[in-house]
Amino acid sequence: MRAVIFRDRGDLALVERDEPTLGPKDVLVEAAAVGMCGTDIHVFDGEFEGTVFPLVPGHEATGTVVRVGESVTTLTPGDHVAVNPSTTCGECEFCLNGRNNLCRSWNGLGVVASDGACQERFAAPLANVYKLRPETDLYRAALIEPLACAIRGYDLLPRRMGEHYLIYGSGTMGLIMAQLAPRAGAASVTVVDLNPARLATARELGISNVYASAGDAEPDKWDVVIDCTGAIPAIEDALPRVKAGGTFQNFGVAPAEAFADYSPFRVYRDEITITGTMAVLNSFGRAVEMFEAGAIDPGPMISHSFTLDDYAQALTMFRTGEGRKLQIRPNDTASRVLAG
Ligand SMILES: NC(=O)c1ccc[n+]([C@@H]2O[C@H](COP(=O)([O-])OP(=O)(O)OC[C@H]3O[C@@H](n4cnc5c(N)ncnc54)[C@H](O)[C@@H]3O)[C@@H](O)[C@H]2O)c1
Ligand SMILES: [Zn+2]
Ligand SMILES: [Zn+2]
Repeated sequence: MRAVIFRDRGDLALVERDEPTLGPKDVLVEAAAVGMCGTDIHVFDGEFEGTVFPLVPGHEATGTVVRVGESVTTLTPGDHVAVNPSTTCGECEFCLNGRNNLCRSWNGLGVVASDGACQERFAAPLANVYKLRPETDLYRAALIEPLACAIRGYDLLPRRMGEHYLIYGSGTMGLIMAQLAPRAGAASVTVVDLNPARLATARELGISNVYASAGDAEPDKWDVVIDCTGAIPAIEDALPRVKAGGTFQNFGVAPAEAFADYSPFRVYRDEITITGTMAVLNSFGRAVEMFEAGAIDPGPMISHSFTLDDYAQALTMFRTGEGRKLQIRPNDTASRVLAG
């Protein structure tokens, strides 16, 4: 069986390896699609906290069940599934208080210490495997994992009816947050991005308030401002645009060593709420249901698919910011242009 492997930081190879072995409560999945995101770049560059090399990357995955461990009774071969990559210890203070995403031993398949899905077949614990309807498009459903992160983000927002939302970043995450905003009660949604091609995707998704700079938009203050770039200039531009009583969310992942300037006086005087949001917390099952109910329009969001042979090419393309969501399809025979 073929697999992409990060042998060490900055060093990847396509290798032949044995199929993963299954524990009694594990599931073997034939990989259909695996989304690529900034996390894969951080893992490859050795910048993700805790990564243990060698590691098979890939954490936004769907596929078909091939085999199940001896204690698994709820899935059978042939089932279509999406896989939540997060695993936690279940024993620490955070896990015991229902804050598993803050677990100090947080492990992500393809991210920290367990192999991910950029291989023909991959193993996952049963608790992480969510059954899809047979008719759900397995390629598009690889957006369920980022959708689950977005739903966690919304769990931490006020979700009041009639509010105005401003979102920085028209990448996968900004576009998912923007598409969910009306369901959270938004009266308007504005998206800003420096990259005009990324704004074109937002327009294709029916978002009409799109700008290169928030300074060009109306209104000049928003109830909810969400950074989906992780870029310090964006964050520093974003926070002052929150209306009094409003909320700012750091959804984007800024570099661990970076700091941003803001006015503590303004946060005090105007009762601004600043919130983080980290990965997935009890939101994967809801993401499956919302995806299958059509909460996001995946068609325009996925621009290219790559075979395992072309994994390095996908990484290079990701770094240039070209394209939209890039996918690896480990059992496909050709790389393809899908949209954009
Ligand atoms: N909180 C979480 O759980 C979570 C989950 C997934 C991803 N993320 C993070 O969310 C962020 C977005 O992810 P993505 O997959 O959409 O990334 P992406 O790279 O596809 O999109 C980021 C967009 O931000 C734009 N941008 C960069 N600097 C900007 C600036 N100064 N002003 C306006 N736009 C700017 C880029 O042009 C790009 O289109 C990343 O930082 C990612 O690590 C967080
Ligand atoms: Zn990701
Ligand atoms: Zn824990």
